[in-house]
Amino acid sequence: EKGGWSSFMAKEVAEQPQAVANTILGRVHDGQVVIPELDGLDELFIGINRVIITACGTASYAALVGKYAIEQWARVATDVELAHEFRYRDPVIGDDTLVISISQSGETMDTLMAVKYARERGARTLSICNTQGATIPRESDAVVYTHAGPEVAVASTKAFSAQITALLLLGLHMGRVRQTLTDDSAVAELADLPDKIASVLEKENDHVAQLAGWMADTRSVLFLGRHVGYPIALEGALKLKEISYIHAEGFAAGELKHGPIALIEPGQPVFVIVPSPRHSALIHSKVVSNIQEIRARGARVIVIAEEGDAAVLPFADEVIHIPLAGPMFEPVLAVVPLQIFAMALATAKGLDVDQPRNLAKSVTVE
Ligand code: F6R
Repeated sequence: EKGGWSSFMAKEVAEQPQAVANTILGRVHDGQVVIPELDGLDELFIGINRVIITACGTASYAALVGKYAIEQWARVATDVELAHEFRYRDPVIGDDTLVISISQSGETMDTLMAVKYARERGARTLSICNTQGATIPRESDAVVYTHAGPEVAVASTKAFSAQITALLLLGLHMGRVRQTLTDDSAVAELADLPDKIASVLEKENDHVAQLAGWMADTRSVLFLGRHVGYPIALEGALKLKEISYIHAEGFAAGELKHGPIALIEPGQPVFVIVPSPRHSALIHSKVVSNIQEIRARGARVIVIAEEGDAAVLPFADEVIHIPLAGPMFEPVLAVVPLQIFAMALATAKGLDVDQPRNLAKSVTVE
């Protein structure tokens, strides 16, 4: 039931603090991440030389965030493969490879076939799934459930933030087991994440919805991000395509001068996800330069930046603020305004946000 919300999607966007809190619940003990479901797998985590994360669509963007986190904390080479590409080539995998699959439904045929394929090739398999007892977790050696609750709207929102949360937990769990985790501050930050999401929802919902209302006639929107902001740019573009049928593309900000900047003409709306200057002054300054480059060509720049980031103000047409958070936690905060934007734009166009045309919630055919 929608319980007073205008759509399931609106309800599910609002449920994200709870979805993330429930996914963390019972997995932090004495300042360390210990995922009980992974008990007994220490040797596996120590022995692997390679991780491949496989998924489709939104789940594959969560996977990209997971790549950064697992490499950072567990120091193991990690790649992301779209499930339908992975299976139709001859990937180098073996018993030193951990193949992690991510699926909200646990029934996506492409992802299921990738998991089976990986097992046949001798890889160990772990699934991150939101649906208890679904086919993909049953076909995997281990499972870490996201506890986002049932997701009804076709466009994935709370499952996505729960998937990223599960990947952060997994990265911290593996880092502890492999003794590569040098900094406990990330574990401490997990507890604050739900409240920070709630604060974005509270402070930015009306602002972003109003922005979308002004842009109902827009024909194209671009999204730029760097580091873990890059997958969020991809996700922001996918949400907009899916439910508002507006052409949208996400790019790694560093790619701009390698092609996409040719798209910038006066009035082109561009969302830019700006990483905190506290994490890396260098990465931050590069993104600020990108903003200047597109602004000089007339782009209408909508910036998502940490509260207090004054460097972006002179170049932004609009600033959406997110609370201060560690580098791996920013994606879960930055995606929220993009979900609201897509939803508000679709609503302004009179579309049914829960049932976009041509799409099914669970893609059980190849
Ligand atoms: C986007 C969306 C899809 C799914 C994809 C994978 O909003 O919902 O891109 O993320 O079809 O679905 P699952 O996670 O069920 O395997």
